[in-house]
Amino acid sequence: MDKKKLTIQLLSEMKRQGRKIKMITAYDYPMAVLVDQSPVDMILVGDSLGMVVLGYDSTVPVTMEEMIHHTRAVVRAAKNTFVVADLPFMSYQVSVEEAIRNAGRLLKDGGADAVKLEGGSSVAETVRAIAVAGIPVMGHLGLTPQTATMLGGLKAQARDAAAARALVSDAGQLEEAGAFSLVLEAIPAQLAEVVTKELSIPTIGIGAGPHCDGQVLVLHDALGLFQRFVPKFAKQYANLGQSVAEALSSYCEEVAESSFPAPEHCFNMKKEELDKLLEG
Ligand code: KIV
Repeated sequence: MDKKKLTIQLLSEMKRQGRKIKMITAYDYPMAVLVDQSPVDMILVGDSLGMVVLGYDSTVPVTMEEMIHHTRAVVRAAKNTFVVADLPFMSYQVSVEEAIRNAGRLLKDGGADAVKLEGGSSVAETVRAIAVAGIPVMGHLGLTPQTATMLGGLKAQARDAAAARALVSDAGQLEEAGAFSLVLEAIPAQLAEVVTKELSIPTIGIGAGPHCDGQVLVLHDALGLFQRFVPKFAKQYANLGQSVAEALSSYCEEVAESSFPAPEHCFNMKKEELDKLLEG
């Protein structure tokens, strides 16, 4: 497939031209190879990694080392796809210096093209410092899973006038601070439309309706590979969980009845050759 790797400039052009931006998460080499071969524009190595790959209950325990390890695997595969890596919880909140250092590690050690962090006005100065250091930063507003406990759980946000106004203001501050794009998660579609129209940087929605400049999904939700729960906003485009279960059950049946391995899976030797070998 003839695919040109996206740049931040091309991303802005896509917004101006009304061409939708397609983003999906990936966390390992084999899946990233498949995403790279698809028309997806951007890969997010999200800290959803913690829940869908590492089995944590939330994204909170994810470490910088885990993010770097998985980003490196994705980058090895993603030859023609722009890669954004998440700054995990507590890698950017303690100080601006630490935030710049950790963002730099995701680029230098992980090989990512850009980083993403969660929050509004409280992280605007951090976003500015990271961008000034030459690191492209994506913002993330609405449902911010790293601080979901403070938000009352994994549920829709900005549903009253004050919270909606605060979100519009946060979005403006992140753009002004130098964010090149903004994820909007689990907010009313009508509010996402307003933010998308007000900003000159592209918005990428997840549970934020059809009016965002692009969409992002967690790969394991889209492929039916995460069984603990399916968010309301996630669409399952395949049920690989079921395919894997069926494949494993066939494998076990065939081993039990000795129909696997079949002759075509075996290495053979003539009886005389074997006898000679065993004699020697
Ligand atoms: O970590 C992640 O996968 C994300 C998406 C939900 C946007 O932040």
